[in-house]
Amino acid sequence: MSAVAGPMVKVLFVCLGNICRSPSAEAVLRAKAKEKGIVLDVDSAGTGNWHIGHSADERAIAAAANRGIDMQDIRARQVCLADFEAFTHIFAMDRENMANLLAMMPTGGVVPQLYLDYGKGTPSEVPDPYYGGVQGFETMLDLIEDASDGFLRHLQET
Ligand code: 4NP
Repeated sequence: MSAVAGPMVKVLFVCLGNICRSPSAEAVLRAKAKEKGIVLDVDSAGTGNWHIGHSADERAIAAAANRGIDMQDIRARQVCLADFEAFTHIFAMDRENMANLLAMMPTGGVVPQLYLDYGKGTPSEVPDPYYGGVQGFETMLDLIEDASDGFLRHLQET
């Protein structure tokens, strides 16, 4: 049976601050799934707590808007233990966040994966664009878009 018609797919993206990479991935995957008529739940969270309650970084909002993707309504939150039970997929944006997730993962919880495992193969992590220029946000979106296409293809094939 296709996963698209099977149990609800619930995806959580995790980065460090939850204001650049993971909210961008949340917005991109939601938009692409809607375009393809694939029903899924998408959320995002950060391993850090600095930005709880904040909107996404304005550079991320602008870069997404240029691609027709709206992420104005996303607010940052911190990942919590209940997330490992509530989601069917937890995707880390890089290895540092992956390691943090693995360190807190409860027994029996969903095992996190690197999101770019669904991408072209290189690079395997989404670089943190926070301290760089606007080009970092374009690269981030290119990588996220590619992995999102791969993940949705995977859902349609399984
Ligand atoms: P993100 O980027 O993990 O992609 O949301 C960052 C945002 C904020 C910080 C670090 C990374 N910070 O240190 O505040």
